[in-house]
Amino acid sequence: MVIAVDGPAASGKGTIARALARHYGLPHLDTGLLYRAVGIAVLRAGGDPSDAAFAAGRCAFDETLLTDPALKSEEAGSAASRVSPHPAVRAALLERQRAFAAQPGGAILDGRDIGTVIAPNATAKLFVTARPEIRAERRHRELSGMGLDTSFDAVLADIRARDERDSNRAASPLIQAEDAVLLDTSDMGVEAAIVAAIAAVGR
Ligand code: DC
Repeated sequence: MVIAVDGPAASGKGTIARALARHYGLPHLDTGLLYRAVGIAVLRAGGDPSDAAFAAGRCAFDETLLTDPALKSEEAGSAASRVSPHPAVRAALLERQRAFAAQPGGAILDGRDIGTVIAPNATAKLFVTARPEIRAERRHRELSGMGLDTSFDAVLADIRARDERDSNRAASPLIQAEDAVLLDTSDMGVEAAIVAAIAAVGR
């Protein structure tokens, strides 16, 4: 069984994907981490994430980078959103994601284009979303909990900018697959969202 979980930044898709992975005993890949790793690798090499050739040259990053706490930062998220429109970057990360999805026994992947591009034949597809203000509130709380002092308005502006970039790029934009179940978590707690996600997978 392959489960595709897509959705915008801070929608709760990661939390839901991890809970589904535990529930169904499936391996899970957070594909945003791959783009974050490329974004951070570009910044550390002194490059500009908007430079397609430079970003493409940083896709063969060391595996250990995927466990670097710096990938969780807003800086990494923003850089990821800037390297991800480049077709060459998407192509370089494609096989790795497809191979993960194709492993015997199945897998669960979360990202932006899992149900549309990476695993179009997935057994179940979820599109997890929430209103931008709610997503910003959750992200702001998370950042404050990590001791990072950012204003709510700055987080909301960042979420809106990321939505704009992720949804309007030409290559594999963030879009709900026709056969995906929409899960709006705006007015749901974490537990209710997980119960709804399991019901949507339907097995
Ligand atoms: O899910 P996230 O916030 O960690 O993703 C960071 C960025 O990576 C996001 O703004 C767009 C990009 N991304 C993508 O283009 N395709 C994916 N499958 C996952 C992430």
